[in-house]
Amino acid sequence: LQENKRIDTDNLDFSIYNPSIDDFSSLDFREDDNSDPLKVDEFIHKNPKHYVDNHVSTIFTVRHHKEIAAFFTVSMSSIRKKDIELDDKINVTFSDYPALLLGQIGVDKKFRGRGLGQYICKYCSGFGQRLNNDVACAFLILQTTKELAEKYYESKCDFRWKKSNKDIVWMYRKLF
Ligand SMILES: CC(C)(COP(=O)(O)OP(=O)(O)OC[C@H]1O[C@@H](n2cnc3c(N)ncnc32)[C@H](O)[C@@H]1OP(=O)(O)O)[C@@H](O)C(=O)NCCC(=O)NCCS
Repeated sequence: LQENKRIDTDNLDFSIYNPSIDDFSSLDFREDDNSDPLKVDEFIHKNPKHYVDNHVSTIFTVRHHKEIAAFFTVSMSSIRKKDIELDDKINVTFSDYPALLLGQIGVDKKFRGRGLGQYICKYCSGFGQRLNNDVACAFLILQTTKELAEKYYESKCDFRWKKSNKDIVWMYRKLF
């Protein structure tokens, strides 16, 4: 029954990934059919430190009541004006807009369907808003499958996207 309850947000802990403490080896970030189209599971199990050491991803470990439940990565990035819906374009000369990239997001199979993915998206929006105080940041962005875009990020997490028939699409959420 515990598995069906919404995540207890007072007992969530977000910390920068520490390879000597955070053991992801027994966690499963594949889709329900065991596929891994966005290579989320592969990323965290195959030398994630390489991304950190090369300054391309910051990895966050998310614990629920001290147990690892999820991870995500963030990086500085930008989104092309052509991937933004007409209504959301900004009237400036830039051909792309500054954005915070939610590069990978994975909720362990055991913790799914309890609102954690949506909470992480909100957390990252707040993160982008804070960053904007020092370095301009207009959007939170991610790349995902068309299926998840429709069934999850658009309907549950307030992301928008320029509809296309591509298998992998860019999505964005305005920070302001
Ligand atoms: C996609 C993912 C991050 C969602 O996280 P989550 O914490 O399980 O999702 P939430 O609890 O916030 O949201 C649950 C709702 O979204 C829907 N949903 C979540 N994943 C879905 C999926 N793959 N297909 C369809 N609907 C989905 C659920 O049906 C549920 O709807 P309800 O509230 O109406 O019952 C998680 O399933 C995951 O890690 N998947 C494997 C890795 C992956 O695909 N990462 C995304 C890369 S962009």
